[in-house]
Amino acid sequence: MTVQTLKFYDLPTRDIDMTSEVLSGLSQANKQIAPKYFYDEIGSQLFTEITRQPEYYPTRTEIGLLRSLNEDLVTAIGRNVVLIEYGSGSSEKIRVLLENLRPSVYAPIDISREYLAKSVERLRDDYHWLNVEATCIDYSQDFDLPIKTKGRRVGFFPGSSIGNFDPDQAVKFLKRVRGHVGSDGGLLIGVDLKKNHDVLNSAYNDRAGITGRFNLNILAHLNTELAGNFELVKFRHEAGYNAQKGCVEMFLVSEVAQEVEIAGQVISFQAGEKIHTENSFKYSSDDFIEMAVGAGFSQHHFWTDERCWFGLFYLYSA
Ligand code: AVJ
Repeated sequence: MTVQTLKFYDLPTRDIDMTSEVLSGLSQANKQIAPKYFYDEIGSQLFTEITRQPEYYPTRTEIGLLRSLNEDLVTAIGRNVVLIEYGSGSSEKIRVLLENLRPSVYAPIDISREYLAKSVERLRDDYHWLNVEATCIDYSQDFDLPIKTKGRRVGFFPGSSIGNFDPDQAVKFLKRVRGHVGSDGGLLIGVDLKKNHDVLNSAYNDRAGITGRFNLNILAHLNTELAGNFELVKFRHEAGYNAQKGCVEMFLVSEVAQEVEIAGQVISFQAGEKIHTENSFKYSSDDFIEMAVGAGFSQHHFWTDERCWFGLFYLYSA
């Protein structure tokens, strides 16, 4: 009988500290807050709620695709690989793959230590045959994978999280993954596709107002973490597709002229002034494949749903 192994690597993060990053973003002519600050505990719950809204199609479309493609995925990816997930969160989507892919090791990477530790324990209990090597680090920075197990490596990056990077950063990220998986390695990645603008606008302006609450919660997070006094009722959610840039942009609009104090500094807003909180880039399959080739991947598979709303790509490099 083989014994299940579980390893946990806690890498030091070369994290820019939150205070200076937030203050510098709010001091610019075009104010901005990085989208990673959405995800405090309430923000993570609100995001889960977003994925259940009828207008927000990406999550259910991607999971439907992963389910329907199971055998095709095994054929493309192969079994017994070292499966590395970037930003594993609660490790829910990987469950769709594990039984069929039977990886030799599952290697989740996530910035949130507690979240990662909890989801790894649940996986260990649910899949007794599964070996796990977890790494706690912010995957958006450069880092060496601490994984010890030998064997073919395949990355997994679902949810169109790649959309939060602008295209230049996205190519850099793909190059980093290419470096991690090496030759004969691959990457299974979910990408939200370009489509009718009304569909996009509705997905980020759900009728129940959950996306608005998610967006505004970033201010509550700053209030708690950086001793801020943002009044959430004095800001409004705005989201829309910018066809020129090829992304959905989210903003918080100041309803009135006001001053807010945060981390001991005063930030002034004019009535109607906006804080940019997120970009969510959308790609055509051709555009995305071009980026993947630019990052060093030489072959690809592409699957999509019947409406062609969401793309699943398996990128490979010999
Ligand atoms: C998690 C970045 C893929 O861009 O659709 C959902 C985040 N923001 N609704 C996305 C999000 C507003 C989501 N990503």
